[in-house]
Amino acid sequence: MRTPLMAGNWKMFKTPADTTAFFDKFLPLVAGAAHADVAICPPFINIPAAVAATSGSNVTIGAQNCYWVNKEGAFTGEVNAPMLKAAGCTWVIIGHSERRQFFGETDATVLQRTVAALEAGLKPIVCLGELLAERESGQTNEVLKTQFLGGIAPLTPEQFAQIVIAYEPVWAIGTGKVATPEIAEDTHRAIRALVEEKFGADAAAAVRILYGGSVKPDNVAGLMAQPNIDGALVGGAALKPEDFAGVVNFK
Ligand code: 13P
Repeated sequence: MRTPLMAGNWKMFKTPADTTAFFDKFLPLVAGAAHADVAICPPFINIPAAVAATSGSNVTIGAQNCYWVNKEGAFTGEVNAPMLKAAGCTWVIIGHSERRQFFGETDATVLQRTVAALEAGLKPIVCLGELLAERESGQTNEVLKTQFLGGIAPLTPEQFAQIVIAYEPVWAIGTGKVATPEIAEDTHRAIRALVEEKFGADAAAAVRILYGGSVKPDNVAGLMAQPNIDGALVGGAALKPEDFAGVVNFK
C-alpha cells in the first residue's frame, strides 16, 4: 500500500534561527512516526539549517521551486535543482498555485521544472488545483485534466513513477475552508482516473496523491480516512511544531 507523505510547505516564513528552533521541538514529537514519510519545505535560505537539524532523523527536506534547466547561468534570483540536491534536499514542490497565480507558472513550466528536478535526483511534489469560480461553475475536472495533460502526462512512465501529486483546491488554501473529506476524495479519485488512463492501473495504484488546503490537527484524520488521500501538503499548520506534529500523528 501507499505510505502516507505528510509534507509541510513553509512558504515565505521563518529565518535560519527560527528553523533550528522549530526542529528542536518538532523532531522529538514525530520520532515515533513510522506510519508516514515526513518532510518540510522551507524557503531556500533555510535549507542548510533544516538539513543540518534533521540529519539522522526521520524527517526529510525539500524546496518550494527550482529552475527549469539543470545548468548554471546568468539567471539572477533563480536556484537550480542540482544546487538543491547538493544542499541535501530530497523533495521539491512544483507548480504551487501561488507560483501559478503570482509568478507566471504555467503547465509548460511545471513540466520543464519537474523534468529538471527528476534529472537532478529530486522527488517532485507536483501541485494541481482549481479556483473557487472554476469549482462553482462545474469546471473542476476539466481544469485538473488540463493541468494534468500539460504538466504531468508528457512524463515518461519511469519519470512519473518518481513523482507525488498534490491536489490543492485554491479556495481552501489559507482560508480555513478545508474541502470536506467527500469533496477531496471525489477529486482525488478523478485525478487517479486520469493517471490510470495515461500511465495504466499499476501506476495509478502506486502514485501518492496528497491533499492540501487548510489541513489542521483536528481535520486531518477525516481526510486521511479516505482511500484515495495519501497524505497532506500543509501550509499554516506546518509552522508550529505542535500543530504539524498533530497532523503527522493523525492516527
Ligand atoms: P494552508 O494549509 O495554509 O491552507 O496552505 C496549504 C498550502 O498551500 C500548502 O502548500
